[in-house]
Amino acid sequence: MSRYFVGITGASGHRYAERMIVALVRAGHDVDVALTGAGAKVFLHELGVDAGAGGERLPNVLEGWLGSEVAQGVRAFASDEVGAPAASGTALTGGAIIVPCSMGTMARVAAGFSSNLVERAADVAIKEGRRLLLLPRETPLSEIHLENMLKLARLGAVLMPCAPGFYHHPESIDDLVDHVVGKALDRLGIEHGLGARWRGLRQPPSDEGIDPRREA
Ligand SMILES: Cc1cc2nc3c(=O)[nH]c(=O)nc-3n(C[C@H](O)[C@H](O)[C@H](O)COP(=O)(O)O)c2cc1C
Repeated sequence: MSRYFVGITGASGHRYAERMIVALVRAGHDVDVALTGAGAKVFLHELGVDAGAGGERLPNVLEGWLGSEVAQGVRAFASDEVGAPAASGTALTGGAIIVPCSMGTMARVAAGFSSNLVERAADVAIKEGRRLLLLPRETPLSEIHLENMLKLARLGAVLMPCAPGFYHHPESIDDLVDHVVGKALDRLGIEHGLGARWRGLRQPPSDEGIDPRREA
């Protein structure tokens, strides 16, 4: 069992973050979560949850957002809480996941700004040689974005664009979200049941990866 830091920024795609947190907790891990200021605005817009201007109300809305069972495995922090455990390398974690990652946060992490808890947690992961997964969401990508991604990849970060595939015949938005989140969990070596596993063009998808919630 590990503790993971999940940073949510002002990029679109907060359902990816939601699914990631639920999957991590269901896999038996603890999660620290923080929203950037812009993240709190998109959070309200996309998920309809009001976490306050700087995400300071996130602890109050955790249960309503994730349900009490999942919320028990989650600690929430405001973006300016740079005194949180994730801000120090001495607090051991399995790594940091920034999902979705805005181009702004990407640039500031690449430059080592650490101007909020999300950026600092990413900075800590880099300096401590821990896993850092960045799930950027933007299109088209400028040279600035691409240079920042290359710099971070060379520093050991894993860049996993929020770009679901369609070869598994998704039937819902959840299927698309699960495809991206499942690949990120694979990269962390975390077992999950999100989506079917590919078995070749002539084979039906394996049911080994069917989400157990859907069978209930
Ligand atoms: C509804 C909405 C959607 C946005 N989507 C994206 C996006 O997909 N990618 C991105 O890089 N910025 C996006 N932005 C802009 C960022 O929120 C903005 O650049 C912000 O300053 C990022 O701050 P942060 O990196 O501290 O979260 C979006 C903004 C809004 C209001």
